[in-house]
Amino acid sequence: MKIVVIGGTGLIGSKTVAILRKGGDEVVAASPKSGVNTITGEGTKEAMAGAQVVIDLANSPSFEDKAVLEFFETSGRNLLPAEAASGVRHHVALSIVGIDRSDNGYFRAKAAQEKLIKASGIPYTIIRATQFLEFLGGIADSSADGNIVRLPPVLFQPIAADDVAAVVAEVALAAPRNGIVEIAGPERAPFNELVARYLKAVGDPRQVVCDPEARYFGGRVEERSLVPLGEARLGRIGLDEWLRRSKA
Ligand SMILES: NC(=O)c1ccc[n+]([C@@H]2O[C@H](COP(=O)([O-])OP(=O)(O)OC[C@H]3O[C@@H](n4cnc5c(N)ncnc54)[C@H](OP(=O)(O)O)[C@@H]3O)[C@@H](O)[C@H]2O)c1
Repeated sequence: MKIVVIGGTGLIGSKTVAILRKGGDEVVAASPKSGVNTITGEGTKEAMAGAQVVIDLANSPSFEDKAVLEFFETSGRNLLPAEAASGVRHHVALSIVGIDRSDNGYFRAKAAQEKLIKASGIPYTIIRATQFLEFLGGIADSSADGNIVRLPPVLFQPIAADDVAAVVAEVALAAPRNGIVEIAGPERAPFNELVARYLKAVGDPRQVVCDPEARYFGGRVEERSLVPLGEARLGRIGLDEWLRRSKA
């Protein structure tokens, strides 16, 4: 089976490509570096030829509100019709748990991406993951004011990229759900506590302050805004295990 992974060179994309190749499928790691650009449309139609499954793991180079919305809307408007035209039977995309429960520019862009997929007529599965453990440093940076990192004590359940890629590969080989699958890490704890543990473990001297008014990328978050509310698949790698693997 031919599987095209858009964003196949990224954090999740490269791991997903490696897993699927081990299984013996023909896997195309598509990205601007390999001549497939879903924003300009370059190489997109050609990459789709003969593909049964397309996994969209692309990400916007800019997280600025307007730029990220434009990225996911333009990318979807170029990619989905090209898939429909070549008869792709399953579109898989990676989204984020809680995008409809907190408001920030990145979440709005992911909601727009999901909307285009649902309207495309192509059988699909959307995987909504919690924040990646690999993203904890970025979260600390975005919440920092000098040496103080302000975070709310809301529930947080980050997942390792390896666990995400394993589920993405499995979902891509299964029948389309025409719906959403949620995945999260094995450990659920207050946001401020997990980030404080992470910073301490990596020797980052910044102090985490628990601030119930602190926002997440500008959006207000409640106790359960960022964790799955219903049934979710759980990854195996918690923060301590992930730190051990990262240091090894
Ligand atoms: N960060 C989180 O905590 C989190 C949580 C849940 C879901 N997600 C979602 O997970 C997905 C993957 O994220 P990631 O961290 O693995 O991304 P990443 O490491 O930043 O990789 C982005 C990929 O997108 C490709 N790309 C950029 N512009 C493109 C374009 N115009 N056309 C085609 N491909 C393009 C890049 O290709 P080049 O290498 O050629 O530049 C790269 O392969 C994203 O959709 C993100 O929204 C993230």
